[in-house]
Amino acid sequence: MQIKCNVLDRQFQMHQEEYEEAALRVLRSGWYILGKEVEQFEEAFVVYTGRKYCVGLNSGLDALIMSVRALGIGAGDEVIVQANTYIATVLGITENKAVPVFIEPDEYFNMDAEQIEQAITPRTKAVMVTHLYGQASNMERIAQIAEKHQLALIEDCAQSHGACFGGKMTGSFGISGCFSFYPTKNLGAFGDAGAVVTDDKAFADQIRMMRNYGSRVRYYNEIEGLNSRLDEMQAALLRVKLKYMDELNDERKKLAAVYDRGIKNDKIILPKVRNGADSIYHQYVIRCKGREKLQKFLQERDIQTQIHYPIPPHLADCYRYLGHEKGEFLLAEQYAREVLSLPIYTGMTDEEQQYVIAALNAF
Ligand SMILES: Cc1ncc(COP(=O)(O)O)c(C=O)c1O
Repeated sequence: MQIKCNVLDRQFQMHQEEYEEAALRVLRSGWYILGKEVEQFEEAFVVYTGRKYCVGLNSGLDALIMSVRALGIGAGDEVIVQANTYIATVLGITENKAVPVFIEPDEYFNMDAEQIEQAITPRTKAVMVTHLYGQASNMERIAQIAEKHQLALIEDCAQSHGACFGGKMTGSFGISGCFSFYPTKNLGAFGDAGAVVTDDKAFADQIRMMRNYGSRVRYYNEIEGLNSRLDEMQAALLRVKLKYMDELNDERKKLAAVYDRGIKNDKIILPKVRNGADSIYHQYVIRCKGREKLQKFLQERDIQTQIHYPIPPHLADCYRYLGHEKGEFLLAEQYAREVLSLPIYTGMTDEEQQYVIAALNAF
C-alpha cells in the first residue's frame, strides 16, 4: 500500500458538486478579481473567526508582511518570534527591514510565553506568534504580556483555522490574525490565497488599501501599496469549504486520536496538547531521536512523511546576515533534528492509518 503525506482530491470529491457549481458561477460571471465572491467570503470568515473585519489577500505571507507594515513597524524595530516557526513568519518581519528576535518554543512546539519578557528591548514593537501544526498557543499568557508591555500582537494562523484557546478562536487575540489558504492548509483553497482578520477598522482599511496598489478609489494612490488581491474563484471555493470547516477539523482530530491510541513505540514521542488549548492537527508531528532512520524505514514501506522544518530560520542561509550560530536555540534545533510529520488528511481510511501505525510500531 502507498500512503502519501497528503491527498487533496479526496476532500474535493466530498463536496465536488458544490465546488464545481461555485467555479462555474465565477467563470460565467465575467468578474474575476475583488468582487461579490470576495465580499461574501470576507463576511463569512468574519462570522467564523468572531472578528469585525476580514480582508482577503493573495497569500498568508502577504497577510504577515502587510500586517507588520500597517502597524508602522520597519527598519530597526524588533519583533519577537519563536525559533521553530516556518520561514514565512520571519519573512513577514524581515520584508519590512525589521529584526526578528527569536525565542525558544515550548513542549507543545509553540512559543514559550515565559521567554518573551527577557527578549524585550526598547526597540521591541510586536510579538508574532505562530499556532504551529494547528495547536493554539498559550494565548492567555502571551496576550497578557503583550498588553503589559504595549506590544502589538500578530497571530500567524496559517496552520490553525478554527483552533481555539480557552474557547476563543486563534486569530481573535491580537490586532491581526493572518491566515493562509494554501491548498494543503485545513482551510485550503485551490491556489494561493490568504486573509487578515481584525477588530480595528483603521487597520483593516490600511490593509484593504495596501492590497490594491494603495488606493481606496481607483488611480488615487494614498500609500505605496502592493498587488495582493484575492480572486473571485478562490473566494467562491473557500466559501464552500468554510461551511464544512468544523467537520473537516473534527475528522482530523479523530485521525489524531487514532494515532495517539495506536502508536506504541518507546522510540517515538507523541505530540501533546496544552490544557485549555485545542489542536486542529494541521500536522501530526512526532519526535524521534533516530528520525532519519525512521523516515527511511517508513519510506521503504511506501509511507511518505515530511519534516516541518529541517532548518530553523535562525540557521537558514538567507538569514546568515543576522549572525546567529548553531547552539543558540537548543530546543528549536533539537526539534528540527527530531520532528516528523505523519500522513494525515481528510478522507484518510482506517486501513491506511492502521498500515502507518503498524509500521511505526514495528520500527
Ligand atoms: C506558519 C506559516 N506561516 C505562513 C505561511 C505562508 O502562507 P502562504 O504559503 O499562503 O504564503 C505558511 C504556509 O506556508 C505557514 O505554514
